[in-house]
Amino acid sequence: MKAVVLGATKGMGRALAQAMAARGDRLCLLGRDGDALAKGAEDLRIRGAPEPVKTVPCDLSDPDGFEAALDAADAALDGFDTVVITAALFGTQDELEADPARTARLLQVNFTNTILFCELARKRLLARGGGTLCVFSSVAGDRARKPVVLYGASKAGLSYYCEGLDHKFAQQGLHVLLVKPGFVKTSMTAGLDPPPFAGEPDDVAKSVLSAMDAGKAVVYAPAPWRLVMLVIRNLPRFVMRRIGF
Ligand SMILES: NC(=O)c1ccc[n+]([C@@H]2O[C@H](COP(=O)([O-])OP(=O)(O)OC[C@H]3O[C@@H](n4cnc5c(N)ncnc54)[C@H](OP(=O)(O)O)[C@@H]3O)[C@@H](O)[C@H]2O)c1
Repeated sequence: MKAVVLGATKGMGRALAQAMAARGDRLCLLGRDGDALAKGAEDLRIRGAPEPVKTVPCDLSDPDGFEAALDAADAALDGFDTVVITAALFGTQDELEADPARTARLLQVNFTNTILFCELARKRLLARGGGTLCVFSSVAGDRARKPVVLYGASKAGLSYYCEGLDHKFAQQGLHVLLVKPGFVKTSMTAGLDPPPFAGEPDDVAKSVLSAMDAGKAVVYAPAPWRLVMLVIRNLPRFVMRRIGF
């Protein structure tokens, strides 16, 4: 694969880039923090990533820079065939309710700007006959829940968009892989109490890579979250009003 990864400086994006590098995929890292990107690229080289591992500035809060970032990634990889987006913002429901400006930033980055970035990426992939668009959403987008009303709304919208892309463009060769992580131990969840089935980024990376290779449309990671969310999606509203999950 010749893959662009937006979000490879931390967490699941970093673990996925490491797994791809280890098997010889060519990579171009996009992100907003130049130093972190350079460190990430150096780490991937040490792990045996094919040279060169290029880095390109791209801030998900600034859509004006998306086209230039994808141009640079295309040039670096001589035409990418895979785009992975793990980058996103998180805030607890209490933090977001107390800070409307932070809520606005999160909704803008996780929903509007991620979709704008995906639109540019999928147009490029379709123009060259297809490719893979792998987008990290969340189980929080599967059912409205008290602890993630706002963050979950941003991810519900993103999941809906990815499903629509799959319906519309699968037959033209666009493989959309929608990743729905449950709780995973990364900097995003640092300080939160891990629930049962909390996962590790390296395990998520393995599941995502095999789902990508198998051409799947959706992957829950860790896997038990598929079952957990099947139950949660089917709980009646009066139960959802009472429980804290
Ligand atoms: N961890 C979980 O339990 C969990 C559960 C469900 C879904 N998810 C989703 O899974 C994905 C990965 O989560 P994670 O836990 O691995 O997150 P993470 O460790 O916090 O890493 C987030 C990544 O996003 C990048 N990023 C944030 N804002 C950005 C911006 N404006 N422009 C460019 N890059 C930006 C960060 O880059 P910097 O280095 O510059 O900060 C970092 O590389 C996210 O979409 C998240 O919503 C996570």
